[in-house]
Amino acid sequence: MQLTQDQIDAYKRDGFLVFPELFTPAEVAVLREETERLRHIEADGIFREGEDGKAKTMFRMHEPDGPTYSPAYRGLSRTPRALGVAQQVLGDERLYMHHCKVNMKPSIEGTVWHWHQDFGSWHLDGIAEPTMATMMVMLDDATEIGGCLYMLPGSHADGRFDPYYDESTVYKFWATPAAMVKARMEGAPDPVAITGKAGTVAIFDCNTLHASGHNLSARDRWQIYLCYNLCANRPGDVENPRPDYVRSRNWAPMALEEDDAILATRPLAAE
Ligand code: SIN
Ligand code: MN
Repeated sequence: MQLTQDQIDAYKRDGFLVFPELFTPAEVAVLREETERLRHIEADGIFREGEDGKAKTMFRMHEPDGPTYSPAYRGLSRTPRALGVAQQVLGDERLYMHHCKVNMKPSIEGTVWHWHQDFGSWHLDGIAEPTMATMMVMLDDATEIGGCLYMLPGSHADGRFDPYYDESTVYKFWATPAAMVKARMEGAPDPVAITGKAGTVAIFDCNTLHASGHNLSARDRWQIYLCYNLCANRPGDVENPRPDYVRSRNWAPMALEEDDAILATRPLAAE
């Protein structure tokens, strides 16, 4: 899949691009089935929140050597529509995956992700340069009431802001201080709601400010995040590195696979 110059320019200007229904309902169905299968196992990199005991976040489905492995996720991460697009926006063919996660924001109970830049925490993982991009893949229709993602256009241009460790949500994480977010919003275009049908994809710069709200709808909101980095920009040593499922140490360049790499894991479903 070849991006146009207009798309590359829009990515550079806005810090993100959206591709409506880039993955088909059949591909989404396979990824959903795999997600459902994995959320019942016990392993590092699977986080259960709330009282139903179900996983809400899972990591590292793309690597064959771990308990959360899913061949379909591996296929997804290497398709020309995912890896190929990341190679083009990052301008480099030698990419590895810093991590892969799926967030299952539950109906009614699933809460806010405060405004943040992914490079806020990734820099703390020892990564020097912001030559990274996140690809989000919707496994449900994403709506505003359902807690979709929002992007602040152009917010990547000022680089990284020092984050603070936000402990106000169950999944504590590095968020951008409110004063910085407000300053960046002054005079900037309004945040864009990333809504769409399942299979829709957004790819965004690691310094693009993004957030999501409470899921007030009757349906869970499942979204995959594939985080690509240049092999040349692999992390340096840090004290107390985060676990491999979130700070990968597999820095080998990923190879593109055929575009049917997801369905090829289910030969019968592909017929
Ligand atoms: C993230 O930005 O890492 C997750 C946001 C979300 O799932 O809403
Ligand atoms: Mn993020």
